[in-house]
Amino acid sequence: MYNYQGNPNITVFDHPLLKHKITLMRNKNTGTNEFRQMVEEIAMLMGFEALKDLPLEDIEVETPIETCMSPVIAGKKLVIVPILRAGLGMVGGMLRLVPTAKVGHIGLYRDPETHEPHEYYCKLPSYIDERLIVVTDPMLATGGSGVAAVNFIKEHGGKHIKFLSIIAAPEGIETLAAAHPDIEIYCAQVDRELNSHAYICPGLGDAGDRIFGTK
Ligand code: PRP
Ligand code: URA
Repeated sequence: MYNYQGNPNITVFDHPLLKHKITLMRNKNTGTNEFRQMVEEIAMLMGFEALKDLPLEDIEVETPIETCMSPVIAGKKLVIVPILRAGLGMVGGMLRLVPTAKVGHIGLYRDPETHEPHEYYCKLPSYIDERLIVVTDPMLATGGSGVAAVNFIKEHGGKHIKFLSIIAAPEGIETLAAAHPDIEIYCAQVDRELNSHAYICPGLGDAGDRIFGTK
């Protein structure tokens, strides 16, 4: 695990298990079922680390031996916000870590010509300003979708935001960090570059299509 370009708000994982699973995902012959499973597992592994600073409070608990004070997660329930569609693939993994989390949705698609994000849906839980928000999207390419999603969340009052992406291009990380220097960004892998269609190279192709079996 290291901080991208020394920025303490940008964490890149380099765990061998994540690397192995990403290699399986990259393979164009990996089918939808296995691809989905990898996205979910990686999200859980990333989420485990990204949530290591969750606040705790002690509660009284009666064990079979005696009564003691023991910690539980404090504060309002956290919110997972997948960027549709592909971010949905990471929700199951996060919910396995935090089953009581709320789930908001932000629908964005990239225009195939301009690569600009277009919003088509946004639904977030109430009291968003008091919750930790974890945005999920497997791909951070130009960063346009990530920036737009965080803009929406902030417009709705969201303050404490973590952004989890599996594969990022350097351009995407830098754009998102420049637009929103206050959020924490976590990536499992930083790839080489974007191609002329704004796809990540070597990447894994279109994450949404591979998760949902479209195309
Ligand atoms: C993909 C991906 C990200 C976005 C990344 O979504 O899931 O949301 O592209 O690209 P960017 O960083 O250049 O904005 P896409 O628009 O293909 O929609 P989909 O998830 O519905 O397939
Ligand atoms: N969106 C994807 O799904 N893949 C890319 O490589 C870039 C954007």
